[in-house]
Amino acid sequence: MARCLYFLDHKPHPTGPHKRLATGSPTTMCGIIAYVGRDEAAPILLKGLQRLEYRGYDSAGMAVQNGTRLEIRRVCGRIDALNERILKFPISGTSGIAHTRWATHGKPSVSNAHPHVDTAGELAVVHNGIIENADLLREQLRRRGHTIRSETDSEVLAHLIAEQKTKEPRLQFAVSRALRLVEGTFGIAVISAGEPDKIVCARRGSPLMIGLGKDATYAASDASAIIQHTRRVVYLEDGEMAVFDASGCVIMRIDLMSKVDMRIEEIDWDVQEAERGGYAHFMLKEIYQQPESIASTLRGRLVGGEDPVRLGGFHDIAESLRSARRVIFTACGTSWHAGQIGAYMLEELARIPTSVEYASEWRYRDPVLEPDTIVIGISQSGETADTLAAIDLAKRRGCPTFGIINTVGSSIARLTDAGIYLHAGPEIGVASTKSFTSQVVALTLFALCMGRHRGLAPERVKQYTDALTALPGQVQEILDRADEIRALAARLLEHDNFLYLGRGYSFPVALEGALKLKEISYVHAEGFSAAEMKHGPIALIDENMPVVVVAPRDASYPKVLSNMQEVKARGGRLITISSEPNGLSELSDELFTVPHTLDALLPVLTSVPLQLLAYHIGVMRGCDVDKPRNLAKSVTVE
Ligand code: AGP
Repeated sequence: MARCLYFLDHKPHPTGPHKRLATGSPTTMCGIIAYVGRDEAAPILLKGLQRLEYRGYDSAGMAVQNGTRLEIRRVCGRIDALNERILKFPISGTSGIAHTRWATHGKPSVSNAHPHVDTAGELAVVHNGIIENADLLREQLRRRGHTIRSETDSEVLAHLIAEQKTKEPRLQFAVSRALRLVEGTFGIAVISAGEPDKIVCARRGSPLMIGLGKDATYAASDASAIIQHTRRVVYLEDGEMAVFDASGCVIMRIDLMSKVDMRIEEIDWDVQEAERGGYAHFMLKEIYQQPESIASTLRGRLVGGEDPVRLGGFHDIAESLRSARRVIFTACGTSWHAGQIGAYMLEELARIPTSVEYASEWRYRDPVLEPDTIVIGISQSGETADTLAAIDLAKRRGCPTFGIINTVGSSIARLTDAGIYLHAGPEIGVASTKSFTSQVVALTLFALCMGRHRGLAPERVKQYTDALTALPGQVQEILDRADEIRALAARLLEHDNFLYLGRGYSFPVALEGALKLKEISYVHAEGFSAAEMKHGPIALIDENMPVVVVAPRDASYPKVLSNMQEVKARGGRLITISSEPNGLSELSDELFTVPHTLDALLPVLTSVPLQLLAYHIGVMRGCDVDKPRNLAKSVTVE
């Protein structure tokens, strides 16, 4: 059973600016495919689901119209299991909808898997996005006699549409009326037993496209699901609805039910490009998803008022958190770097002693642990063997444990007492990018919650919540200037060794920048605190040593400036990442500026150009950036 205290308090969805053709499948992790045509629907839907597998999922299901009945098959687990279930209990019909779910709102289970049906089982819905007023709607529906069978927000849609259908029998009108009652985001596909061979789709904030085939029409959240059948597509815009059968499609505004001109586009990607949303690599796609993934980590968690940060079940374990006298973060690799930033924040905002430990070292060290020490595991995958063992050790010693995890239902999520999910969406590139920035954002939320429990002033919290809200747009500003980093990468290509320096909150960013470069491009790179330079690494500096300095205008800035001068005096080549446009261009050989924010949040911004730099150097050196040699995405062995 999934831990009930994990903060499954919202579902992410793509937001913020993104180039549709360039991103095709933004952060939304669940997948939708729908089909109506002349052939059996089930094999086509299954194949489409398989094409969506790369996105990650934990359950899957489909609904097929069989005469005037709906046949539903759902499984918790792999699409192969869905296939086996369909082989055992065949399902026949020429139209249907299907879904892969990546649990965010309710644990992975058959009852939470999509499609969801209304009380009578006459209408089925698959949904990506979040219904923000689901709790209220669910209560109202229950009072009106509907039987709710899942923990999901999505299920309310089936009941709402069914209810509207008693007043307005045509499916598209019932869908339109129901969606007007809904707050939040959706990409949906709906079928009704009473209207064979018709499918209705609608979109607000969650991508959906219609595929126009010969005697067949498709819908999908991601081009890869339908590209083998057709390349003629219509991308639904927010607020639009598509009504289609085998012979074609009509697009309408959801609110007015007025017709919209069809904007047919031709996809010229191959299947692999489609999975990458048109990007050359998953790593690049994931770097570009950060405005959305950060927004997803924040979604539903900034609520305003005196205690403006809401972390789901935080209050259930508030007593352990309140009485804690020490915090230990434990993690590996990039997650350890995020932990360093989290530790600085916890000490600054919550005034609690905090340390960060490599899980692999700590677990074998016989550490001193008291029951009032909270041990927090940070992990994208939730499966890293050393982090898992470190949490296990903490539990055996009687410490409360907590997880900051991206993968819902993963081993670390299940082992810890409570936690925060990142909701950053599946990360496929071996190099962690969007997970890192979401980890920093989640750690900020955690530090603010702890801070409020320990007397942090509301005005200070407000500064942070304002700054957090601005982050997705600021990351987008950096991404809009990615060409500058590409050009910088080309100028640095000849070098085989790099130093990365930073101080304060920028020290872990320097470590992370160096890790990115070495894992992606196999170029030797080391990160140091700029202050440690004179204790050894400065001996390495000459005109052949590029030194990447993370020097935003923060509390450490004056000190870092003098460290930069030390490098310059020894002929080093200075590549500066800063939020300060003035005064650095003379000192630096290369300067890239990021927008300004609070010191603690600068790592979210300064890490993005470093991700891009590693990516472009890796690509220019001909490396397989998505699957670097010798590395695995989840390190499940010691
Ligand atoms: C990140 O780019 C690395 N691939 C690696 O350091 C990773 O962060 C580390 O293995 C920890 O993984 P986790 O976050 O899934 O626990």
